[in-house]
Amino acid sequence: MADKTLGAYNIADLRELARRRLPKGMFEFVDRGTEDELALANNRTAFERIKFRPRTLVDVSGRNQEITLFGRKSPLPIVVGPTGTAGLLWYQGEIGLARAAAAAGIPFTVAINSMTAMETIAEQAPGRLWFQLYMWSDRALSHQIVARAKAAGFEALIVTVDGAVGANREYGHRNGFEMPFRLNRRNVAGVLARPGWLFGVLLRYAVTSGIPRFENYPPEIMDKLTARTLKRSFLKNDSLDWNDIRTLRKLWPGVLMVKGILHPQDAILAADCGADGVIVSNHGGRMLDSAPAPIEVLPEILDAAGKRLTVMVDSGVRRGADVVKALALGAQAVLIGRATLYGTAAAGEAGAARAIAILREETDRVMALIGACDVAALNREFLHVAGSPRGTDRPAVETALRSVEALTRAS
Ligand SMILES: Cc1cc2nc3c(=O)[nH]c(=O)nc-3n(C[C@H](O)[C@H](O)[C@H](O)COP(=O)(O)O)c2cc1C
Repeated sequence: MADKTLGAYNIADLRELARRRLPKGMFEFVDRGTEDELALANNRTAFERIKFRPRTLVDVSGRNQEITLFGRKSPLPIVVGPTGTAGLLWYQGEIGLARAAAAAGIPFTVAINSMTAMETIAEQAPGRLWFQLYMWSDRALSHQIVARAKAAGFEALIVTVDGAVGANREYGHRNGFEMPFRLNRRNVAGVLARPGWLFGVLLRYAVTSGIPRFENYPPEIMDKLTARTLKRSFLKNDSLDWNDIRTLRKLWPGVLMVKGILHPQDAILAADCGADGVIVSNHGGRMLDSAPAPIEVLPEILDAAGKRLTVMVDSGVRRGADVVKALALGAQAVLIGRATLYGTAAAGEAGAARAIAILREETDRVMALIGACDVAALNREFLHVAGSPRGTDRPAVETALRSVEALTRAS
């Protein structure tokens, strides 16, 4: 019987397997951040600064990770977030990742930029499906996509709002690896150095379905990923404002979420516009480099709008301990980005399933060790925030925790 662990005992192991399988430019596209990668590093530091205050001699024999999200039960407090990349990491990787999520009973988010049509995923990986939208300046085209997601029966629409312009990823230029992907002088050596990926992914597409395309784009702008002519002007979205969320609220009858919130006032505006939830996110450190870690600002966002919205968080989650910390701070669920992408790159559906299993097992173990039987019982009493090593700057998380404390006292 195949080794279900794949020899990977944590997400870092899956990342290493992904690094060995993918062309350098592709791996860096998934793995790295933007500019000086301050946000990328701080996403981890912010989690690492938070410690637990474990309780002991608590009967934790009936541990349970089940949550209720938008009125439906989910066996784990995690959601596969939108990335639109899995199909380039593994042949039909999006279907594999969606199937792994469905098998675990957790929501899977189809990104508008994914290589697989939303209808195909709904058909081949039926489960709890959410759709992520980047709005374009041509609202009518965006609204066509929303209508399509509605017709395909998607439960939820996530509108990502943290990319008014494209991110500054200098390594992408150096590696010759940007979207849309095409072979060029700068990336060809990296591709040839990974024959498993070249034959198992790129050429396999070439001889079956053809070179991957943005299958969720309207036909008039759908173009081959390798083409030189993708009309970038369609991707412009620097003219969006809250009125666009109000319009989407009218068009979309299902659950509506706004992703990329880092300011409490924006969470309040999202609620005012009729959103059901927000995802506190800095895009995994891939957009604004001096953005705070979402986990640092989560408490003040909960403070501002937690009673009106379902508040979820992502960015930097690599361990079950991070999931527990986010839930203890008050998040209702945690989105996973790179962790399941590393798994998909390592071994397709089996690798994605392994990533989810690792997070589930780690979460379970941490809950037992801190004396928490049910994720619903997690609260900040389980958390301890260490002071900064130099004792000068007070960590932002500590400030954030104080704000939760104030909130708890007030309510
Ligand atoms: C390779 C890659 C592609 C992504 N593409 C999208 C996208 O198309 N839409 C979106 O809303 N977020 C996108 N994200 C951001 C993720 O949804 C999520 O916010 C982020 O990955 C969370 O951080 P983590 O990777 O540290 O878990 C992407 C992230 C990665 C790593």
